[in-house]
Amino acid sequence: MADLTPNALHDTPALIEAVFPAQKVSFEAQRERKAGPAQTLTGLGSYWKGRKPLILVRAVLLGCLLPQTDNSEKDLEIFEKLMAFDDEGLARRALIQNTLKPKEIAARINLDTPWNFFSHNIKKDDPVFYDIEAQTFPMNCAEKGINIRWRRDISEQDKLLIYHKTLNTISSYTEKASHCKRPEEVDQTWLYKPVWPAVNSHYAHLGLEASSHQELIEKLGILRFGHRPQVGDTFCGGGSIPFEAARLGCDVYASDLNPIACMLTWSAINIIGADPEQGAEIEKSQREVAEIVDKEIIRLGIEHDKYGNRAKAYLYCLEARCPETGWMVPMAPSWVISKGRSVIAKLIPDYNHKRFDIKVLSGVSATEMIAAEQGTVKDGALVYELNGKTHFTPIKTLRGDYRDLSGNTYNQLRHWEKNDFKPRQDDIFQERLYAVQWITRETLDQGRKEYFFTEATPNVIEKENAINEIVKLNLNKWQVEGLVPDMAIEPGAKTDEPIRTRGWTHWHHLFTPRQLLLLAILQKAISRSDHPEFTFYKIANTVNWICKLCLWATSPARATGGPGDNSVHVFYNQALNTPMNYASRSWIDYMSVYNKSGISNSPVSQINFKIKTINAQNIDEDIDVYITDPPYADAVHYHEITEFFIAWLRKNPPPPFDKWTWDSRRALAIKGSGDDFRRGMVDAYSAMANHMPDNGIQCVMFTHQDTAVWSDMVGIFWAAGLQVMGAWYIATETTSELKKGGYVQGTVILVLRKRSEGEKSGFKQRILPAVRNEVKTQIEQMMHLNEEVEIKMGEPVFNDSDLQMAGYAAALKVLTAYTHVGGEDVTSFALRPRQRGETTVVDEIVQQAAEAANSLLVPEGLGADTWHSVSGIQRFYLRMMDMETTGASKLDNYQNFAKAFRVTDYTKVMGNMTANKARLKRISEFSSRDLTDITEFGNSWLGRVTIGLQQLLSETEPQIVISQLQADLPEFMEIRPVLIDLLEFIQNKAPETEVREVAEILANRLRNLRALGQ
Ligand SMILES: C[S@@+](CC[C@H](N)C(=O)[O-])C[C@H]1O[C@@H](n2cnc3c(N)ncnc32)[C@H](O)[C@@H]1O
Repeated sequence: MADLTPNALHDTPALIEAVFPAQKVSFEAQRERKAGPAQTLTGLGSYWKGRKPLILVRAVLLGCLLPQTDNSEKDLEIFEKLMAFDDEGLARRALIQNTLKPKEIAARINLDTPWNFFSHNIKKDDPVFYDIEAQTFPMNCAEKGINIRWRRDISEQDKLLIYHKTLNTISSYTEKASHCKRPEEVDQTWLYKPVWPAVNSHYAHLGLEASSHQELIEKLGILRFGHRPQVGDTFCGGGSIPFEAARLGCDVYASDLNPIACMLTWSAINIIGADPEQGAEIEKSQREVAEIVDKEIIRLGIEHDKYGNRAKAYLYCLEARCPETGWMVPMAPSWVISKGRSVIAKLIPDYNHKRFDIKVLSGVSATEMIAAEQGTVKDGALVYELNGKTHFTPIKTLRGDYRDLSGNTYNQLRHWEKNDFKPRQDDIFQERLYAVQWITRETLDQGRKEYFFTEATPNVIEKENAINEIVKLNLNKWQVEGLVPDMAIEPGAKTDEPIRTRGWTHWHHLFTPRQLLLLAILQKAISRSDHPEFTFYKIANTVNWICKLCLWATSPARATGGPGDNSVHVFYNQALNTPMNYASRSWIDYMSVYNKSGISNSPVSQINFKIKTINAQNIDEDIDVYITDPPYADAVHYHEITEFFIAWLRKNPPPPFDKWTWDSRRALAIKGSGDDFRRGMVDAYSAMANHMPDNGIQCVMFTHQDTAVWSDMVGIFWAAGLQVMGAWYIATETTSELKKGGYVQGTVILVLRKRSEGEKSGFKQRILPAVRNEVKTQIEQMMHLNEEVEIKMGEPVFNDSDLQMAGYAAALKVLTAYTHVGGEDVTSFALRPRQRGETTVVDEIVQQAAEAANSLLVPEGLGADTWHSVSGIQRFYLRMMDMETTGASKLDNYQNFAKAFRVTDYTKVMGNMTANKARLKRISEFSSRDLTDITEFGNSWLGRVTIGLQQLLSETEPQIVISQLQADLPEFMEIRPVLIDLLEFIQNKAPETEVREVAEILANRLRNLRALGQ
């Protein structure tokens, strides 16, 4: 460290302000997402939605700390090495992944001495042996009838060499990386071993020498800020940002209003980030707790039958009295229990008692399965048959829904009281156990367990009754001790549902007596363990899986994920839906979760970590780098739904959690998208700007939804005293089926710095030319870098959407340098209530930027004049046609460009709107309705050309087609060069050969026209 000069990089711009491999980061971020439960932090609690991908955080953080030098190309190269995106990194990742088969490698690469690396199965005495021995790669093994495999004695270096060669035969990054492990899955020291000489040489002028990311980060911090960098996230949520920053070796400050978020973040760093020794201790502690609970459950005998089989799940349903017949009817949308084993519950009328017995039948016929699928709840009504007659009563009627004079809806359900733990006899909805899934006694200790189902036998009911007695006796005591919640459910957008549909008023009402007993035993065991902090987070996980809101999945259901014949966790979606029938996992089934803690393979090293449950605007620490992912617009209602967990955790939190505020403090949460949202955000970001050194940097991530969000967000940061320095677009996720649209969502990353002190006033007319210039300079610089990288690496760094985004950033950089525009100061601008459809100065500037960028980004092969003369929809079609030739197929790209070109309805020219298989309508696919004068596309020159091409495809004479064009387009002769250019473009880019051919014919004909009328 002797040669480092603290603060030598004090004012040096960060790499992310100039370059960022957004396409590669997008690909890697999506791969991380697709890893589902295998994502590093998911094991802490899959109930927390929307954790940001760790690879994205890593890229952003490195981008903030690495300096720009005078060689952007080299800067980028080094950055990619540090992310393991470079060829060596990819080769190492592919080696560990080990999915490239030797025969595939043999077919791909040139190799003179293959048998130095591979062995084959041809024996020496086989006549073809010597023939094979003399062969070189490429080789088609199948054709030759040989099997090859890696030689056993091959060195790692040689194997890597072959992987290098193989990956070099693949041109796109995405295809290469799909043969690789994700970087975080590979041993970090080994993965990055080769990068350090290049890194150290590139930064030698700074005296920087490192042999790990942690060392590099620490030194970069000293060079920039005089100390190890302090990274902060005031909206830490599930903890991705603090966790990755800590893994990289930064000091970390994390805070969130929500104690559940803080608990997850604490656990990310201390549990997932534990070193192996600590990890072993954590696992031991968790196992011990699980065993204590297990012993108690066995002692009570509540999960065993008299033959020694042990329950895996208990299935319950609601039951209500039919107002027509007076019968008690069990309620479930389906009576199928297992599709795989053809198990159903069958309702058998008991005329004496006007109720149904429920029998569980296994291995029934297909007809019986179909009958059982009907259930007794359909389209919001109780529906069942008795004596050949179908009875139908809407659930609303059962509940006794009514409206008051102001139109508010209420119902007759009794509101449960604090000491209730099951329905009272005269409650409208009763709860009934109808089936049990058992694990056979013989397979209880085996890895592969055998299951079967039974109805609720008298023996089981007896145990349920015994449990009821225990709960009745102890509930109050447990509540006082904090082993079971006593917290009321506060009404809200999501929390209303349990109250409205079941009359449940306290959080413990969402649990059966059996669940309450089990959870009380668990809570006690944790609080008495040596290290309750190691197992505390598991309580939240457990209540998420053992609750009356857990559906029973009869087959792998896409919406819920996971296998069939299993229960589904409460937060498979982001609501608190109350199902008619539900499943409760037994302890033996859940217990295995306590036997794995998910320790990461790259522990968090010795860093300083602070965590607080505070409002973001109350930050009181100085932070060098903020990376935040704030709540925005219609995001998850964390502040409400997590009360479900807070209710369980708030009374007995062990240290260090005991110092936290165990309350959701809904009123303080930033939410919605209106004026309160903006004010909350401005206050939070102003506080952060005030707690940041002048050379500090901020990166804010937010989901790109529409331009209104953009404009709001920019206004907020601007008002908080921050200036936009860069913007990148990362395609991170596909919204789930449950959300409308199924669109790909992208994350925008805005890079911000403190605006220089003092006032700066300007007028829109004066700012606009400066905006255009800045956009032009920025895009030209990036295009230049693109050319250089493409020559060297065969693939450009930036695609058109990166350039477009850079254009926005350049424009916003100019705008946000001002404190007043047109006499209005930015704070009042940001906080002023918005009119519907209002166009703000930010919107105008962004639009200007889009236009300036668009006029520079002429699709390859099209004349600039043509590009400048065609309308938005035509630009959209041409741009996307060009992008499709490079294999682009992501819907978000189409959405973004449609916005940039101000297309009214781009869906009209789309052939496929699937998130990852989007494409334009082909020329031949447009219907005549798409091409009438009244459509945006049909009324354009390109629309006319499309009609002409379709006519040629159906063998109309070219002369007739030309005459038609002349008749339709009064300015035909003047625009003839444009039409020719469009046709040449189609001739080169259209995916179908026939279209290319007719485009060539029509282009030639038009070129040969000499005078009007010919
Ligand atoms: C989008 S989430 C952050 C997700 C996180 N980056 C992750 O990877 O999981 C936003 C967070 O902001 C928190 N929040 C909302 N209002 C807040 C406020 N006023 N102060 C601090 N945190 C707040 C929410 O509790 C939520 O955890």
